[in-house]
Amino acid sequence: MENLIHDILHLKEERNATIIAHYYQTADIQAIADFVGDSLAMAKYGKASKADTLIICGVRFMAESAKILSPEKTILLPNDGAGCPMADMVDADDLKKYKDNNPHKYIVSYVNTSADVKALTDVCVTSSNALKIVSQLEGKDLLFLPDRNLGSYINSQLNHPPMELWNGFCLTHDRLQAKEIMDAKTKHPNAKVLIHPECDPSAVALGDYVGSTAGIIDFANKDSADTFIIATEEGVLHKLQSDNPEKTFIMASSRLVCKNMKKTTLSDVYIALNESTTALTLPKATIEAASNALETMLTLSN
Ligand code: 13P
Ligand code: SF4
Repeated sequence: MENLIHDILHLKEERNATIIAHYYQTADIQAIADFVGDSLAMAKYGKASKADTLIICGVRFMAESAKILSPEKTILLPNDGAGCPMADMVDADDLKKYKDNNPHKYIVSYVNTSADVKALTDVCVTSSNALKIVSQLEGKDLLFLPDRNLGSYINSQLNHPPMELWNGFCLTHDRLQAKEIMDAKTKHPNAKVLIHPECDPSAVALGDYVGSTAGIIDFANKDSADTFIIATEEGVLHKLQSDNPEKTFIMASSRLVCKNMKKTTLSDVYIALNESTTALTLPKATIEAASNALETMLTLSN
């Protein structure tokens, strides 16, 4: 294991590469990453990076976003099988048909979508900036996709007419039941519940804080409570515990594990860096169309 890490760090220098990981990756991947963040922070870091090669330790849509924002860089997704089941719940052909039937609609897509869907999108959002961005779209007739849970949370927070919602969801967050949070609260009555808006609205309603992965970490770092019930993917515990060794973090459910986020291994990263993994490519026209939606997001979220 130590040799593998040594070889990864050596190859990384040699290739002028940088490793960017999501908070839901395994602890050993987070430990070797140059940067660990939520979807928004990963996209911004990759775009600003001076590296020639970005190794994206996350899922496919994150690597595609990196390619769209930095087409000149080599983008590697170390494990080709790491996808996002929620992103797969919206197909570009179906969205195209929807747009043909609803030409007046303004399309707001969660970043958890394919590059082809982003190419048909007016603006992207992440869970960190969704409220800020959608609040600037008043007066437009909005379709939000694919996450019905994040969409209904945004609708609940804004005074606009509600956005129409696609019927997608995150397999991992959506499976959390309100009862599991109630049970955890009974066991830990003084704990605060920190929940991701990808969870079902009945669970989100029990949150003391609702926000993105980065928002949850920020809240736990600043809040004076000493115990927190965490209602998002369990990989976030790595950062929560290392930032707050004196605080206690209890998972709301042992089922909050995203299989796809756990697919990438240190060996995958080594193989990718050893030039044995094919670089991610996207058609030029897709990159151009999709970059409008991502660049509009970065402008509106500043
Ligand atoms: P954030 O990183 O924006 O919190 O999104 C969570 C997620 O499910 C990423 O796949
Ligand atoms: Fe997709 Fe959910 Fe896994 Fe994130 S946690 S990659 S949204 S399935």
